Amino acid sequence: MAIEQLERRPLTTSEGMTEDAAVLSRLLASRYSCRGYKSEPVPRAVTETMLSIAQHTASWCNSQPWQVIVTEGEGTERFREALYAKALADAMAGGAPNMSGDFDFPHAYTGVYKERQREVGWQLYESVGVQYGDRVGSGKQMLENFRLFGAPHALIITSERDLATYGAIDCGLYIGSLLLAAEALGIGMIPQAALAGYAPMMREHFNLPDNRVFVLGCSFGWPLDDHPANSFRSRRAKLDDVVAWVDK
Ligand SMILES: Cc1cc2nc3c(=O)[nH]c(=O)nc-3n(C[C@H](O)[C@H](O)[C@H](O)COP(=O)(O)O)c2cc1C
Repeated sequence: MAIEQLERRPLTTSEGMTEDAAVLSRLLASRYSCRGYKSEPVPRAVTETMLSIAQHTASWCNSQPWQVIVTEGEGTERFREALYAKALADAMAGGAPNMSGDFDFPHAYTGVYKERQREVGWQLYESVGVQYGDRVGSGKQMLENFRLFGAPHALIITSERDLATYGAIDCGLYIGSLLLAAEALGIGMIPQAALAGYAPMMREHFNLPDNRVFVLGCSFGWPLDDHPANSFRSRRAKLDDVVAWVDK
């Protein structure tokens, strides 16, 4: 695919643009959810830089509820093996993963949300050569989530149970910072709610205490640029679709 087709033009208007804003806009526009990785690990010092950048994230009452488990080497392989074995067993038993996350799952995708979900889903399946109606092919691609897309690292983000929904919101902001920090460092990353269905398994695997709740998992590493699943870019709505101006 030609690189022009990959480019996601910044949606930012140029009015009032500063150098910093241009950098931020470029980082946001160029990052994507990475679904194919080189096997070489990210050096711990580089991962620490990414994590220290994200530590600047704001949170309600400055509670900073996020805590992070980062896997490396054997830690990643043991997790990948356990997760994939469980997901594969669920898939063979003919079902979706047991949706027992620590937070509610979306109740439904309807209207424009359904359209966006479909569009990005088909962009992904098309990129890896899965045809419409190929349930085996799409199931196999879905299972890649639990193989951590071949990434050398997983990152598990937990919040404090008592902080409820707003703790998760703080963690969401933190994940947004992480995604930007990763992009700025040349690291590929993907947020994965798919792992949430395995919260009980992860609780056991990582020995999480009861007061910690699973928010999201991410896989990360050096992106494999020519991996087919990294060959498309999702679209964003226009400002007019999301902003209401009130001036009276
Ligand atoms: C909270 C959250 C959960 C996500 N969960 C998954 C997931 O489980 N599997 C997956 O392949 N992508 C997942 N994604 C990636 C989204 O599909 C992706 O962000 C969206 O399509 C926009 O594309 P982009 O990240 O490439 O810009 C998730 C993204 C977010 C923000």
